[in-house]
Amino acid sequence: MAKVILLSGSPRAKGNTMLVMDACAEIIRQEGVEAEVISLHDKKIRSCIACYRCGELGRCSIDDDGLNEIIEKVKAAEGLIVGAPVYYGTARGDLMSALQRIGMVAGRNGRWLSWKVGGPIAVARRGGLSASYQEMLMFYFISEMIVPGSTYWNIVFGKEPGTAGEDVEGMETVKRFSANVAKLIKKLHG
Ligand SMILES: Cc1cc2nc3c(=O)[nH]c(=O)nc-3n(C[C@H](O)[C@H](O)[C@H](O)COP(=O)(O)O)c2cc1C
Repeated sequence: MAKVILLSGSPRAKGNTMLVMDACAEIIRQEGVEAEVISLHDKKIRSCIACYRCGELGRCSIDDDGLNEIIEKVKAAEGLIVGAPVYYGTARGDLMSALQRIGMVAGRNGRWLSWKVGGPIAVARRGGLSASYQEMLMFYFISEMIVPGSTYWNIVFGKEPGTAGEDVEGMETVKRFSANVAKLIKKLHG
């Protein structure tokens, strides 16, 4: 069965980003596509060290906190959705570090992210959502991935854990986006 990995970039185990990722995973399952949510909350992800050894190793040379296992899961899946809390107007650093290392490993090993389907979701109290969404899109497009749209951009408002669920329009937008990810995967791999 086709599968989508949903990567939450929040340090909170039960924060807003996880709430959003869980809701998106549920929609994907309803479409008949497998979904697995992976959280970075208990992981410390270093930034890429530019050693360029991933081309010879087939994985990242840094063996920290299971990122290589996550990379293998992303490689095996047909889809990848990432969610980030916005910190000072940008996507949280650990998530961007993970994306840069995933992108480098894939790019130097046959460009295996090409034609995977997915996209980013930004979560914040109030500001920097569009900039963070765009920042994460850079990873998708240089990796030759396919990003479906929705009825709005993938941004959800929420401050205290759980409040993202009260942003009705935001939740509807990302759920529709997630359904579109699953539908597109079925078209491509059905
Ligand atoms: C260090 C830090 C910086 C933040 N910067 C912003 C920001 O620039 N804009 C904003 O709207 N919210 C900002 N927030 C609030 C979070 O984005 C918001 O609480 C979000 O819901 C956290 O998601 P989470 O529960 O998944 O961790 C910041 C929070 C922290 C801890």
